[in-house]
Amino acid sequence: MKFGVLTGGGDCPGLNAAVRAVVFRAHRGGHRTIGFLDGWKGVLEGQTRDLVPEDLADGILRGGTVLGTTRTNPFKTPEGSARVTDTLHRLGVEALVAIGGDDTLSAAQALHRLGGKVVGVPKTMDNDVGATDWTFGFDSAASVSMDALGRLRDTAASHHRALVLEVMGRNAGWVALATGLAGAADATLIPEEPFDEDALMGHVKKAIADRGFALVVASEGIELGPRKGTAGNQDDFDHELLKERRVGEEVARRIEAATGVESRSAAIGHIQRGGSPTLFDRILATRLGAKAVDLAVEGKFGQVAVLRGSEVVGVPFAEALRTPKTVPADWRDLLHTFEP
Ligand code: F6P
Repeated sequence: MKFGVLTGGGDCPGLNAAVRAVVFRAHRGGHRTIGFLDGWKGVLEGQTRDLVPEDLADGILRGGTVLGTTRTNPFKTPEGSARVTDTLHRLGVEALVAIGGDDTLSAAQALHRLGGKVVGVPKTMDNDVGATDWTFGFDSAASVSMDALGRLRDTAASHHRALVLEVMGRNAGWVALATGLAGAADATLIPEEPFDEDALMGHVKKAIADRGFALVVASEGIELGPRKGTAGNQDDFDHELLKERRVGEEVARRIEAATGVESRSAAIGHIQRGGSPTLFDRILATRLGAKAVDLAVEGKFGQVAVLRGSEVVGVPFAEALRTPKTVPADWRDLLHTFEP
């Protein structure tokens, strides 16, 4: 068979591990693989490179994606759909592996509905793809933000300040939750919960009274009140660019106004998305990439390789994309157990 592979959406650690697994697994079965450059844009434009195992021998160690990525939505127009099917036909691609989050996978689902032979691999630092227990990229990103919170702790303690760390995550609070829980924040603000300013100030005041400083984690997707900023500034899949709302800055400003304690904020932005993947992400990405090839070889197109418990299995696109995974009540309860 001739395989094609692409990475779409925001990059995250583990993408190269997944591409490597596709190439090695396909090669072991006697199949060829080409990579499409820059996500669906490469399929639209027919931009490819050959991929052989030697190219990716140490890919499991590397952040980013060797294939490049964009947030291009190829099915926005009928011309785009036609160009995608034309390219795959012209290049003789018999199985396409689309590695991405909800947006990339919904484009793959659209291709499958048109008769395309495609399987999916979920990734995203946001950890919000419904059908999989965890997505690779999340563990690496949250480990970076946990480290950042540890560094802010030193400055907060030395200067007796309140420090707010803003993290990514879009409309899911997983990165903030993991950072706040593992990094011992005094309050963690996630989009799944309405912003409760009184409760926040209560936690901050108690932390300051107890030990002279406070640490708060704010997810970029929280709603603090009337929208400021970036209405209309959206990507190809109509998502607002959330970092431009600067919620961390605003939370710090409100803390200083309400408590009189000197407050600062830090937004680590794309620093969370770069660097070498963690052990967990390397292994998960490898297992999912290999499973995607197995699904295609078995003719199970229209499926996404996901993690269920300790097993990797295939589930239909519709199931994988049905509901984005946000932070449920039991996790929120655990998080709040540790707030002062
Ligand atoms: O979906 C991944 C993500 O990192 C989100 O957490 C964040 O809102 C968004 O991408 C940032 O997108 P960009 O890299 O296009 O600024």
